[in-house]
Amino acid sequence: MVDIQRVSILGKDSIHCGFHLVPYIVETVLKTLPSSAYVLITDTNVASLYLAAFTTEFTSALANSKSRFLSYAVAPGESVKSRQGKAEIEDFLLTNTCTRDTVILALGGGVIGDLVGFVAATFMRGVKFVQIPTTLLAMVDSSVGGKTAIDTPHGKNLIGAFWQPEYIFIDAAFLETLPAREFSNGMAEVVKTAAIWNESDFTLLESRSEEIFTAIQTPSSNFSGRHKSTRSTAQDLLLKVIIGSISVKSHIVTVDERETGLRNLVNFGHTIGHAIEAVLTPTILHGECVSIGMILEAEIARQMGVLGQVAVGRLTRCIKAYNLPVSINDPRIARVPAAKLLTVDRLLDIMKIDKKNSGPVKKIVILSRIGATYEQKATGVADSIIAKTLSEACKVIPGIPAHDPVRMATPGSKSISNRALLLAALGTGTCRLKNLLHSDDTQVMMNALIELQGAKFAWEDGGETIVVTGGGGSLSVPAKGKEVYLGNAGTAARFLATVCTLVQPAPTRTVITGNARMKQRPIGPLVDALRANGSQIDYLESQGCLPLSIAPAGLKGSRIQLAASVSSQYVSSILLCAPYASEAVTLELTGGQVISQPYIDMTIAMMKTFGVEVIRKTDPGTGKLLDIYEIPRVVYKNPAEYNIESDASSATYPLAIAAITGTTCTISNIGSASLQGDAKFAKDVLEPMGCKVLQTETETTVTGPPIGQLRALGYVDMEPMTDAFLTASVLAAVAIGSPLPGRELSESPRNTTRILGIANQRVKECNRIRAMIDQLAKFGVETKELDDGLEVYGKPIPELKTGVSVHCYDDHRVAMAFSVLGTAIKETVLEEKRCVEKTWPNWWDDLENKIGLRVEGVELHHSHSSGSPGPSTPVEAPSVVISGMRGSGKTHIGELAALSLGWPFLDADHYFEKKYQAGVKEFVAKNGWPTFREAETETLKELLKDYPIKHVISLGGGIVETPAARDALRSYSKKGPVVHIIRDIEEVVTYLGAETARPAYGEPIEDVYKRRAPWYAEVCNYQFSNNTKSGPDPKAVANEVARFFKHVTGQSPNRPANLGQGKRSYFLSLTYPDIRLALPHIDEITAGVDALELRVDLLRDQDSFDKIGSYIAPKAYVADQLATLRLATSLPIVFTIRTVSQGGSFPDSAEAEAFELFNLAVLAGVEYVDVEISWSAKCISDLISRKGQTKIIASWHDWSGKLAWDGNEVMQKYQDANKFGDIIKIVGKANTLEDNLTLHSFVKKVTAATGSKPVLAINMGAVGQISRILNSTLSPVTHPLLPNKAAPGQLSFKEIQTALNLIGQLPPLKYYIFGTPISHSPSPTLHNAGFESLGLPHKYEIFETKEVGEEIKAAITAPDFGGASVTIPFKLDVIPLLDSLSPEAKTIGAVNTIIPATKPDGSKSLHGDNTDWRGIREAILSKSPTRVAQPEAGLIIGAGGTSRAAIYALQSLGVKKIYLFNRTRSSAQALVDAFPDARIVLVENLGSWSGTPPTIIVSTVPAQATSTEQDVAGSVYLPESIFEAHSGIVVDMAYKPAETPLLTLAKTVGKGWQSVRGVEVLLEQGYYQFELWTERRAPKKAMAEEVLRKYESS
Ligand SMILES: NC(=O)c1ccc[n+]([C@@H]2O[C@H](COP(=O)([O-])OP(=O)(O)OC[C@H]3O[C@@H](n4cnc5c(N)ncnc54)[C@H](O)[C@@H]3O)[C@@H](O)[C@H]2O)c1
Ligand SMILES: [Zn+2]
Repeated sequence: MVDIQRVSILGKDSIHCGFHLVPYIVETVLKTLPSSAYVLITDTNVASLYLAAFTTEFTSALANSKSRFLSYAVAPGESVKSRQGKAEIEDFLLTNTCTRDTVILALGGGVIGDLVGFVAATFMRGVKFVQIPTTLLAMVDSSVGGKTAIDTPHGKNLIGAFWQPEYIFIDAAFLETLPAREFSNGMAEVVKTAAIWNESDFTLLESRSEEIFTAIQTPSSNFSGRHKSTRSTAQDLLLKVIIGSISVKSHIVTVDERETGLRNLVNFGHTIGHAIEAVLTPTILHGECVSIGMILEAEIARQMGVLGQVAVGRLTRCIKAYNLPVSINDPRIARVPAAKLLTVDRLLDIMKIDKKNSGPVKKIVILSRIGATYEQKATGVADSIIAKTLSEACKVIPGIPAHDPVRMATPGSKSISNRALLLAALGTGTCRLKNLLHSDDTQVMMNALIELQGAKFAWEDGGETIVVTGGGGSLSVPAKGKEVYLGNAGTAARFLATVCTLVQPAPTRTVITGNARMKQRPIGPLVDALRANGSQIDYLESQGCLPLSIAPAGLKGSRIQLAASVSSQYVSSILLCAPYASEAVTLELTGGQVISQPYIDMTIAMMKTFGVEVIRKTDPGTGKLLDIYEIPRVVYKNPAEYNIESDASSATYPLAIAAITGTTCTISNIGSASLQGDAKFAKDVLEPMGCKVLQTETETTVTGPPIGQLRALGYVDMEPMTDAFLTASVLAAVAIGSPLPGRELSESPRNTTRILGIANQRVKECNRIRAMIDQLAKFGVETKELDDGLEVYGKPIPELKTGVSVHCYDDHRVAMAFSVLGTAIKETVLEEKRCVEKTWPNWWDDLENKIGLRVEGVELHHSHSSGSPGPSTPVEAPSVVISGMRGSGKTHIGELAALSLGWPFLDADHYFEKKYQAGVKEFVAKNGWPTFREAETETLKELLKDYPIKHVISLGGGIVETPAARDALRSYSKKGPVVHIIRDIEEVVTYLGAETARPAYGEPIEDVYKRRAPWYAEVCNYQFSNNTKSGPDPKAVANEVARFFKHVTGQSPNRPANLGQGKRSYFLSLTYPDIRLALPHIDEITAGVDALELRVDLLRDQDSFDKIGSYIAPKAYVADQLATLRLATSLPIVFTIRTVSQGGSFPDSAEAEAFELFNLAVLAGVEYVDVEISWSAKCISDLISRKGQTKIIASWHDWSGKLAWDGNEVMQKYQDANKFGDIIKIVGKANTLEDNLTLHSFVKKVTAATGSKPVLAINMGAVGQISRILNSTLSPVTHPLLPNKAAPGQLSFKEIQTALNLIGQLPPLKYYIFGTPISHSPSPTLHNAGFESLGLPHKYEIFETKEVGEEIKAAITAPDFGGASVTIPFKLDVIPLLDSLSPEAKTIGAVNTIIPATKPDGSKSLHGDNTDWRGIREAILSKSPTRVAQPEAGLIIGAGGTSRAAIYALQSLGVKKIYLFNRTRSSAQALVDAFPDARIVLVENLGSWSGTPPTIIVSTVPAQATSTEQDVAGSVYLPESIFEAHSGIVVDMAYKPAETPLLTLAKTVGKGWQSVRGVEVLLEQGYYQFELWTERRAPKKAMAEEVLRKYESS
């Protein structure tokens, strides 16, 4: 009835495996485990899928029996694996009077297995139990071995027992419903087991991942697979893999049940994996952490010289094939905030408490090859070795190579590896390939040849040698239905296309296919040539690309014509197969220029080694070589051994080390016969530098001169070996001997090496010429950049700087070149050691093990990793790219952005003009559009390459017309912001009426826009809405530009001010259908709050204004609302779409629409989006992958009133939210006051863990109000002016403050003003109005004293001191009482604000600041049309304390020259001396200017001391010429009277002038003071109203 495969464990055949086993399981259990009660325990996820099937089987089988069947489902997730979870199940068993003979069945993943197993182990001192694992991890790992456990807050699995199940039923059909990520999670353990124990299992895993995935992704219908006869190949394979893995674990467990030695081996990858998991759990799964652990532990083995790179490479590719991460730099890992905590020290620290350790030595399972370990147990490894692998940077310890004379081979050349593999497979006999490069290409090629049954492969020397048994050209169609999958391996695809035509005649055809990228890569010319020769090849999808269906009919041969101008690989493909055609082949290359002839020559040379001589024809007349080749019909004869030549560029590094250290190095597999250009490096570079070079056909030996005696090269052309110029440059840096005769440069110093012919190196992994110049400069080495190369001026080794930290630009060649210099210069740190992986993954190990130089790990200390609070500013922020239609405002917005970021602005058009010495228009007229587009794309690429960080780059609007430019932008958008400036197209049309700089479109702009819109959408990751329609206030625009660009570049993300430890933050829920209704009150309603919530589900456009019930606002309307709100406030926005079932009005089913809106929010640089956790994981993860600077509030609302804050469900929701949220929001409904207390303890519990995220948790309803008062993260608040509350029970900010005060959470504080005379000071009015408006219980009082003495001291040290204003005459006298000063107060030399702070130890400290200058600055800005202009000149009248603040304010506004007038010249001079970097010009007579007249005037003298009449005794005369400039801003600091002589004069003679009264400055500085004290935004309107009312009435 069922086909079962059994695996034995601990001497019993108790593991039963198959498909669709439910009836079999029930029958077997009932038959062999008689009992009065069968209790099945599962989790609710699994219950909903599979419980019914079990219940049906059990109830029908037990129908006539006394035995009972019971089932119980717990919440899913790790959190039930707890003491409470265990108790819950035990209570269930006891309540149901289960007894000693109960049989417990655990149906579920590892969590259920561990938990239920432990219950079974202790219930009634142990009952029988059965494991029915439903996750792959549980099947292959946790269910096998009898370990059971629960977690406690102290750690995972700390309490448990060994308790063996009676049976383990592996029903692989369960895996069909398992989420893909969980499947991969289990595959990590499968790969692990094969890696330590069984190479053939591993080979299966590495070559057949696609099929294994297919097996779980194709649901089996009709119980297919239950019988062998109905089992698909994929099912067979899946079961084979699972059983293979289980068998290994069972064997190990049987030998060592209690984990004393051998069983340690299953911990491969786990020592480091667990440490990583401890930091990243629960966001990153166990298997994912173990995957990274396996790679790191394999690298440790490699570093110890035990494991070869081939094995590390195989392991890496295999793990990747199952979608698992292989490095902590994987984006899935790096994006987790906790990933920052993965420092070497932290990981080593966690590893200390590993169970495997003996004493202080850490134990790691060391692989010796795939399928075997170094010892039959974990091996002790020194911390220094682990640290070296874990650290991201390293240094070479200078010295003499210990293995001198060094003899080594460097990694094989990629092109030669591919050819050798195919030749040996097609040949007859056995060939041992040595030094094969292990790349994806070769891996794929081998798999394909196995599937075509064309050859056999085996490994020798631990994988270093591959033994190929050639099939002599006999190939077969792969097994039925099997496609040959080539991934993205281009060379393999090209070579195999022809190989498949050789396949033996058969009824079916061969299909070769690849991944999505492969399916776009061209293969047309090759297929055309083969078809013309009679082969039948069909395209299955797009024309000209894979997949191909190829008829097995042999290659006809004779004359073949091929267009060879695109790829030489087509030529090589035909050449390699030609000997097996039916007739001898004459291959004729057509289509003009043949590309990459050296590679064709390489193929021909290698064919010769395998016994086939190709003849290239020559023109009998001229003797010139023709592009015609004759290939005889012969069978390849394999040489016994083929030593694959090294990659010649790689070989330059060890040779250069010999040169710089004065030692000898032989590279054993590269010599003069090499076809690789870089093979000339020894002869053409090292020999003239003074090295002894011996080169045979196949070997190169270099001996360096004594240390310090390298010669400069003079002139060298490196065109034939461009990649080697980096190696040459580092040697040149220490080459001081004169160049050999004939090489000297006449006008240059003798230590010059001039390298030319390497311009292409500017467009490699990085701009390598710049990279070398910048990094060499760190050593104090001078260089000069040339158009086509560079000059390096050598210095004696002892004069180079030591301790240099080299930035490697993620470029392998930069890292390896500087490691050569590191062998001579002490403490040279290579910052990114892993970038060598591209061509020489084990470079650092080879340096140590083969060359004999020590390498040490270095941990880089990032300035922001020290746990210091506050936003960290990325040092190397990527440049911002701006794009959009012509006329959309790119230049204007771009310049504003550049100004606010303090970055240079680059206009691509200007750059273009400079480069081509022609305007765009002119260029197009002369060369036509296509040429222009090409040049434009080139320019774009250059800009992106040369200005990668901290620039604002504005592009031409048509750049998106070119696919290559789009590609470049799209790939740039992965690292930096590409912003689309959007402006209403009608506005653009109007605006463009006059402009002429760019060529005209020649078609309606609207059509152009329609065409380009999708392209902009495709390449841009941000949108900035340039909303010009409403004629917005330029200042608002400037503010918004600054907010947007500082946010999206991460320079100063716009975050709520009070979000964080020990503070309370609030957002106001905007419940308007149209946000414009809120704008008149925006200042009032936002008083006190830190952010705004835009309830997108409540928005209604004009036509649907009254629509109630579920509704989706149009995207354009939402975008418009956002843009409108942005111009009104710079508060961070929370973008919320609340669904109907969660209390909002967005349809629950409209997932696609919701995510389109979320996407819009992300594009618009919205700070927060509220994403309900019930949306599908796919949509959420998609959103997260694009979220940029946007943070996610993951939310869950339960309206049922049944949510128990101490239950499992809430914990589950928390964990679900924690998986992707940056902030977690859970909302319940309170029925009793106690519900708020359980909520409070829940929040305390989950936020206690280090690294936990902020939690917003509240209860709805009036009973829940107390939870809103106590909540500290982003509490939602309403305001009396709002149309309606967003949720029942919502309070206003003011109400919450009042309540906090009443319950003792917000004690009243005292504030003062110190000075004399101050009885008329408006400050008490100002601040008390502010406190009152926000509901703060504080009080501000006048404190008048004659001097700064005991009274003031007592006031500022009292426990309820909140802060103080300081005015005349104490602004200097208070300074000695303070603990610290702000930089501004220091520069100005005066304090007007005292702020108390509490230090971590509880003691108080006092801080002094100065807000006067801010008052002046803000008052000026409030009148200035835009913040962009930097005024040429300003004037300050008076030289007292306020003048100091005025100078500081003008400086901060970028005023270039400051005129200063004061009657006493000496005090004016004192100010000039106090501000050495301000350009202050003393003025003798007001009104006569030495240059531009001022456009900003600040008077700081009392009004009664000024006059517009000449010669008034004791008065400053104000002539009309003060207002010579035709417009400007004049500030009179005098508080009374309102109309001072200066302002009156301005009114009469200064037409274009705007005035600022003293009271306005006072207000502005007061707002700042208020904000410094309360950390809340000042309710400006309320404060100003009170002050002005009093001011005007007095
Ligand atoms: N005892 C051991 O030797 C051992 C070994 C390794 C791991 N573990 C333990 O195993 C636990 C992890 O196990 P896990 O990875 O199986 O996690 P899990 O049990 O939490 O299951 C993962 C998720 O998949 C769901 N699920 C399970 N089967 C499903 C199916 N067939 N279809 C759809 N959804 C399904 C679950 O409800 C759960 O949400 C950890 O607690 C770990 O400590 C124990
Ligand atoms: Zn594990």
